[in-house]
Amino acid sequence: MSADHGVVAAKRTSANSLTRRSVVAGAGAAVLAGAMARPGGAQASPVKRRIPYGAALEYQHFISDADYKALFVNHCDMIFPMNSLKWSLLQRAPGEFDYLPAEGIVSFAETHGRGTYGHTFVWYTALPAWVEEIDTAARARQTLIDHVRSVAAHFAGRVPSWDVVNEVVAHDPVNEGPWRDSLWMRLLGPSHVDTAFAAAAEAAPEAELAINDYDLEFRGARYDARRRATLDLVRRLQDRNLRIDAIGVQGHLYPEIPIAHKEFGRFIKDLKALGVGYRITELDVIDWKLPINPSVRDEMAAEHVDNFLDAAFSADLPRSLSTWGLSDRYSWIADVMPHRRGAKNRPLPFDDRLKPKPMHDVIQRYLAV
Ligand code: XIL
Repeated sequence: MSADHGVVAAKRTSANSLTRRSVVAGAGAAVLAGAMARPGGAQASPVKRRIPYGAALEYQHFISDADYKALFVNHCDMIFPMNSLKWSLLQRAPGEFDYLPAEGIVSFAETHGRGTYGHTFVWYTALPAWVEEIDTAARARQTLIDHVRSVAAHFAGRVPSWDVVNEVVAHDPVNEGPWRDSLWMRLLGPSHVDTAFAAAAEAAPEAELAINDYDLEFRGARYDARRRATLDLVRRLQDRNLRIDAIGVQGHLYPEIPIAHKEFGRFIKDLKALGVGYRITELDVIDWKLPINPSVRDEMAAEHVDNFLDAAFSADLPRSLSTWGLSDRYSWIADVMPHRRGAKNRPLPFDDRLKPKPMHDVIQRYLAV
């Protein structure tokens, strides 16, 4: 499914106007198209396909760390902004957009013939104060539409896929759900998701539109409820004739929580039956409770990633696989879930000296399908 999707996207682009930018925006797809196509157009068989691999890049590190930046070019099919497309950084004041950081990263990807990804239009957090102060439904709705339209239009033809909404399912849908509390929920209710998808479909008709969320892969009642709520959300959009193309499975893994091989696989298949694909969008390992010994920790992290990818890939192939950063040099886990015995976190495929770890090898094994 991922390969078909990529090739179709690339063809659709070339059928319209073939600009350098639009070609490069589909570079993840081009990797696949290149791997599958043969001179003369004959289908290569049995050529190995490759799932596009991407990583999120924080602007501060993009501008300050040349070695780290080079690692993205050397190892990624998709390079995308980790934070620079979030509302609080993009539209600090009404109608004033600061595209410079996101542009820096997106055009860096383009220059190197890499694909990119759009994270994210609507989230409950990372909102500027002026948005937090909105107190009428009419203004909330218009503000949301304006934001989605402006950002989607700015990157039209260049960002092939958007997380239209991020984390709209309640953390614990059993007790607080099914929707996460947010300014958008308080003023607009669930219809804010419909509004965001309608605006995105209109402003970015060529782009894939996704719902991105976490805790979708684990075993337990809370996770069952999160998978159910996500499927319900997909059906809700489809019932309203709104286009929803993919689910972003964030994949922030906790080794102490087992993967629900069967239930997570079922979830992916249920999505497929609804015509919705999936991407792995923010893979990393929250290693705060793992043993301090780095090589033991790395092996355990790799094994957990293997379990997760096995469950996912045996259900259906993802359209892409991205990690939330690339090297242990920089990760949000160190800020939010530091190692409980004070060790430096090791959540990502490359260590802090930019050397590949066992997790990297596991990921590569899955990418070559
Ligand atoms: C995190 C970034 O990695 C941090 O740099 C930032 O300070 C906060 O956000 N789920 C998401 C991401 O969807 O946007 C979050 O990114 C990590 C959890």
